[in-house]
Amino acid sequence: MEIFKKNLKLYNDIEIPMYGMGTYRILKEDELNLINKFINKGGQLIDCAYFYDNQDKIGQIISQPHIKRKDLFIVSKVWNANKFKLTKEDVYKQFEQTLKDLKTEYLDLYLIHWPNKDSIIVWEVLEELYKNKKVKAIGVCNFRLNQLKQFIKDVNIKPMVNQIQLSVDHNREKLVEYCHANNIVVMGWRHLGVNNINLDNPVLKQIAEKHNSTISQTCLKYEHDKNIVVMPKSSKWDRVMSNANILDISLDEEDKKLIKNIKQTKIYWPMDYISKKVSW
Ligand SMILES: NC(=O)c1ccc[n+]([C@@H]2O[C@H](COP(=O)([O-])OP(=O)(O)OC[C@H]3O[C@@H](n4cnc5c(N)ncnc54)[C@H](OP(=O)(O)O)[C@@H]3O)[C@@H](O)[C@H]2O)c1
Repeated sequence: MEIFKKNLKLYNDIEIPMYGMGTYRILKEDELNLINKFINKGGQLIDCAYFYDNQDKIGQIISQPHIKRKDLFIVSKVWNANKFKLTKEDVYKQFEQTLKDLKTEYLDLYLIHWPNKDSIIVWEVLEELYKNKKVKAIGVCNFRLNQLKQFIKDVNIKPMVNQIQLSVDHNREKLVEYCHANNIVVMGWRHLGVNNINLDNPVLKQIAEKHNSTISQTCLKYEHDKNIVVMPKSSKWDRVMSNANILDISLDEEDKKLIKNIKQTKIYWPMDYISKKVSW
């Protein structure tokens, strides 16, 4: 089986693959090798970040001679959630280090990792990098509805992506709706919920059995059908492949209604503290 090739168009006409590989906590050699296997199976989108502290190792993989850079869609993120205030120079330095580590001359997508009081300064650099064609698209992560609405008013170039924590028990309907209404592509992380809680959900179990699929595939297909880019992380190769094998699962209206009605959870995230301090 090959990794499916289906893209969404960002509002600047750049195509983003709808299935990617998450790389957070992918540090050991055998796990890193999964990225190699993923690419060899046709996988394109690799979701990296300065914060993950593994970009140099990923760079060694993606720069191998048999891999063509143009076949990949490399995402990275500016780490801006430390307490110190980032200057534009700091952001440029981080970007240069990211390119050096990933052994690439450009990124397909560069994101702000967290909304905080530095976001506008960071964004100004991202806009410059975009205008100078060092990155093909720019976006944000973890922006809530009000933060995103305000941010769009304050910046010159609207984010092309918002990458957010998203799962059937935390579906963030209003935020997703707003992003889509404003031509902002949503990428989802933690698709099984906090501590993979959704693996124990009886409704999902029933729907997964009905379609001869797994709960993980059911969750991913549900997001995929809503035009959300998914990029599950797994340290096990059979899961990487089964998570990608979702196109033939055809969730019907009744399934979708049951999933939509799953009890919603409020998720605590330590970064909330920083997010609440934002005043633009
Ligand atoms: N922008 C941000 O702030 C942000 C934050 C967090 C993550 N991300 C990105 O999103 C990626 C994915 O997010 P995530 O790692 O938080 O969560 P995730 O993709 O929801 O899942 C990771 C967990 O699910 C398990 N899993 C994966 N497939 C499975 C399957 N088929 N059956 C059972 N368990 C399965 C994994 O275990 P095994 O490894 O044992 O399979 C792991 O425990 C990250 O790697 C990162 O690239 C972005």
